[in-house]
Amino acid sequence: MNPRSLPTLLALASAGLCLAAAVAQETKPAAAEAAPRYTTKEPSRDGTGKVYMGRETAQVVGHGAVRWLERPEREREELPLEVVKNMDLRPTDVVADIGAGSGYFTFRIAPAVPQGKVIAVDIQQAMLDVVTERQKEAGLTNVETLLGQIDDTKLPAGQVDAVIMVDAYHEFSHPWEMMTSIVRGLKPGGRVILIEYRGEDPTVAIKPLHKMTQRQAIAEMRAVGLEHVETRDFLPSQHFMIFRKPAAAASQP
Ligand SMILES: C[S@@+](CC[C@H](N)C(=O)[O-])C[C@H]1O[C@@H](n2cnc3c(N)ncnc32)[C@H](O)[C@@H]1O
Repeated sequence: MNPRSLPTLLALASAGLCLAAAVAQETKPAAAEAAPRYTTKEPSRDGTGKVYMGRETAQVVGHGAVRWLERPEREREELPLEVVKNMDLRPTDVVADIGAGSGYFTFRIAPAVPQGKVIAVDIQQAMLDVVTERQKEAGLTNVETLLGQIDDTKLPAGQVDAVIMVDAYHEFSHPWEMMTSIVRGLKPGGRVILIEYRGEDPTVAIKPLHKMTQRQAIAEMRAVGLEHVETRDFLPSQHFMIFRKPAAAASQP
């Protein structure tokens, strides 16, 4: 072999090795990729078959359920006025009621924030129409409605002091995206009040997918950067859980 051709051969061999490495990199097995956020299973009764952090999301309650949502028994079953008292609101607070439905909680919160407001957010316009009708009847000026999307509350960034979700979070089809948009909408130090039927209590006679354990709820809130502040045990069948957006957090979780 001509000794002058040796460097050329070495250069070609090294280029070949680089190419092989690049091809191997591109064809790496899927196992090395991040796990998907959601998985699917055979849907259970009232379930969607979509699983987030080990929990199957529940089907959405339709607007035909307005009368059920407004049933008088809720006064003793869910103590709504005690709930509002425990929200520790200031008169100027901006509160977002996410998954507000017919506004059962919206209209009980509004008097507690006379210089602030309550934004009732829902994905069903028919629910928000009920809120608007009731708002006009009551002549309230501090209640607004906001039509959200299944994966976005549409809340303005950094404007909300407190978010409340009552019997709603478990039916969000995109819980991570919803919570991400909620965290974005909160002011630094803003709070999330999450109320769900107690999943770990077999005496609570509610369909399993419409209940949540505290452990599960805390894990899902932590996944978007919220801190668990405390859980208050004054409700007959539900957890009243308080979370906070860290004061120093940027607007994105
Ligand atoms: C069981 S109702 C509860 C209504 C109200 N919070 C109450 O306690 O009376 C749940 C509500 O959550 C709403 N919802 C479901 N997914 C939603 C989402 N991604 N964003 C906003 N609202 C949602 C439904 O449309 C429904 O009105």
